[in-house]
This record gives sequence, structure tokens and C-alpha cells, in this order.
Amino acid sequence: MQVAFFGNAAAVSPRIVPAAAAFSARISFSFSSSSSSSSSSSSSSSATSLSSFKCLRSSPLVSHLFLNQRRSPSPCFSERGLSAAATPKCVASDPDQLKSAREDIKELLKTTFCHPILVRLGWHDAGTYNKNIQEWPQRGGANGSLRFEIELKHGANAGLVNALKLLHPIKDKYSGVTYADLFQLASATAVEESGGPKIPMKYGRVDVTGPTDCPEEGRLPAAGPPSPADHLRDVFYRMGLSDKEIVALSGAHTLGRSRPERSGWGKPETKYTKSGPGAPGGQSWTVQWLKFDNSYFKDIKERRDEDLLVLPTDAVLIEDPSFKVYAEKYAEDQETFFKDYAEAHAKLSNLGAKFDPPEGIVIG
Ligand code: HEM
Repeated sequence: MQVAFFGNAAAVSPRIVPAAAAFSARISFSFSSSSSSSSSSSSSSSATSLSSFKCLRSSPLVSHLFLNQRRSPSPCFSERGLSAAATPKCVASDPDQLKSAREDIKELLKTTFCHPILVRLGWHDAGTYNKNIQEWPQRGGANGSLRFEIELKHGANAGLVNALKLLHPIKDKYSGVTYADLFQLASATAVEESGGPKIPMKYGRVDVTGPTDCPEEGRLPAAGPPSPADHLRDVFYRMGLSDKEIVALSGAHTLGRSRPERSGWGKPETKYTKSGPGAPGGQSWTVQWLKFDNSYFKDIKERRDEDLLVLPTDAVLIEDPSFKVYAEKYAEDQETFFKDYAEAHAKLSNLGAKFDPPEGIVIG
């Protein structure tokens, strides 16, 4: 199956773009997959190598693109409703399409168990934010830049191409939802559907339009730095996040697995991962790695099970005096963890984002 991601303003944003400009700006890339919708997010079998990406400048896709846009209601409205005469009031994403996309994501989760990788996708798009840079999109953050090959190739993003493959049919169906919104919608929905807290999300994130808008490599945290506490503070303080938020957000490792062939961390398989669900393999942080709860904090504290993963950046949460206060609290009290996680996740999802309308869209 041929799956294409479009690096073009008209394809990724419902804003009205002159056709000629859209055509000349068009850059797309594609990759082959035999099993994108049936494989788990974490599927090593579907770990399509980035070398299989092909740069395309093909015109047949352009007609597909514009056909697709015509099928979808335009999210550009005048003050008095749809009107060609009035100046259109544009929003980045269409609320009805956001809601429908959320239902499609729920179906995808049920069939592929891809909750963890969707959470990681949203985090890696947002987590490049640098609060010391004013300009958008240079400041990084939740702007959809992770769809471009150059950023997907960053070492920290190994394997995330599989998340894009899973979301592509949904993006294709809802042209009135930006990539930046889709990534964050998918992540929040995955947390909620795996038993986690309701995240107070807003939408309307504007997409960057080309690979030149991608941040440089190295803004995301490393798992085994020489001084994990200092490293976590360097990286997360740069995003404007606090010690409490570092600990709460790390609790997302209650979901998912680490795979040596992707990040270099974790065992090839354990008794908890050898039969899936989804593609088998990898090492999880928790026994029930598709259930969002506070077991991550209990497990990193106890460290009794060799089949469960504790990265150096996980271990430090229970060692550093400031981090430890929160990690121990969360191990005892799931309600507090859920409350703090939901707030921190929503904040993370907004980092660096440019909203249109500026106040964002709440879809309820
Ligand atoms: C604190 C610094 C962090 C480090 C060093 C880190 C590192 C890692 C590593 C090495 C993996 C394994 C990737 C693989 O081999 O496929 C991973 C997976 C994951 N990370 Fe993190 N992470 C951090 C923070 C976060 C945050 C803040 C979130 C979300 C809010 C998150 C969510 C996840 C999830 C859900 C997975 C599992 C993905 C899967 O199963 O496919 N991580 N992380």
C-alpha cells in the first residue's frame, strides 16, 4: 500500500491557498507498507526503514488532493456563514471534523492497540519547544513539523514513522484537521481510551508548511545522559515546564515499550511483551502497558522485576530530592497523579503552537 504525507500548505491546512502557489510549493514523500492498519503502533515488523521514503513531485496526487478538499467542508467561514463575498474567517481546524477524527482514532486504537506510540508522537511534536525563541515556527513545539522526513530521521524519533502511517488514512479523510491538531488529538484520545484522565484540550493549531520549518536535532531528552537530573531540567525548563510537570509527564511511561532496534534501550522481549497485543517484543515499564494508571511510579520505586524497564531518566525521579516528592506522591495517590498529569499534558500539547482562532477550539 502506498501512503503519502504531504508537506504542503494546501494539503495540511484548510486555509485557502492559491492553487499555483500550492502546486509550486508541493513536496511530498511516501513509503510502502503492507500492513499499516493492521499492525500495532509498536510493530517492529512494520518498522519501515526511512530509506524507503521516496521524494515525489508527482502531479496525479495534486488532483487527489484538491478532490479531497472539495469533499470536505471548508472550515473557512464568513461572519454570516458561508459566503463568497464576505472576507472569510479562517480557523486552522474544523470542529466537526475534529470530533469525527476523534471517533476514527478510537476505532484505530481498538483494532491496533497503538495507544503508546500515539502518545509518544504528540509528545515529540510538542517537546521541541524552546521558550527562549519568540518567533513561530522557529520556537518549535506542537506545529506538525514531525510529519517531515528530516525531523522523523532525528534519532529520538526512531519508529515514529509507524504512528504517521497509522494516522495517515484519518488525515486523508479529514482535510479540515491540521497535522498539529491530529497529533495532539490522537495523543490525548489514546491517554483517555487507555483509562487515563480526561485532558482539557483545545485545538486550532496551525501547521508549519515545509521541512525548513523543522527544528534542529537534539531538542528532545536523551534516556542515558551523564547527569540525568540536570539533563531533564535543561530540556524541560527550556520548554517552560517545572519539576512537578517533568515527573507527572514521565508517568506516560505507564504505557508502551522500548525497543532496542529503535531507541537502543530495553530488552528485545519480556514475558509481558512476547505475545503483544500488537507486534510482540520490546520491554515495558509496567506489567499492563496498555493501561494508563500510576503503576509506573510504583514500579520505578520498587525495581523488583527485571522484566520491567527503568531508564536512567526514570530512576532519577525517585532519587533526586525534588523529583522524589512528586514521584512518591504519585505512587501512593493515583488521583493526584491523574490531576497533575492531565494539566501537564494539556500544557505540553500547547507548547509553541499558533492557534487560529487565537483562543483555540474546544470540542468537548
Ligand atoms: C523524561 C524524558 C524522557 C525520555 C528520556 C524518554 C525516553 C523514551 C524512550 C527511550 C522510549 C523508547 C522508544 C522506543 O524504543 O520505541 C520512550 C517511549 C515512550 N515514551 Fe518516553 N521519554 C521521556 C519522556 C516522555 C514523555 C514526557 C512522554 C509523554 C508525555 C513519553 C511517552 C512515551 C511513550 C508513551 C513511549 C512508548 C512508545 C511505544 O510503546 O511505542 N515519554 N521514551
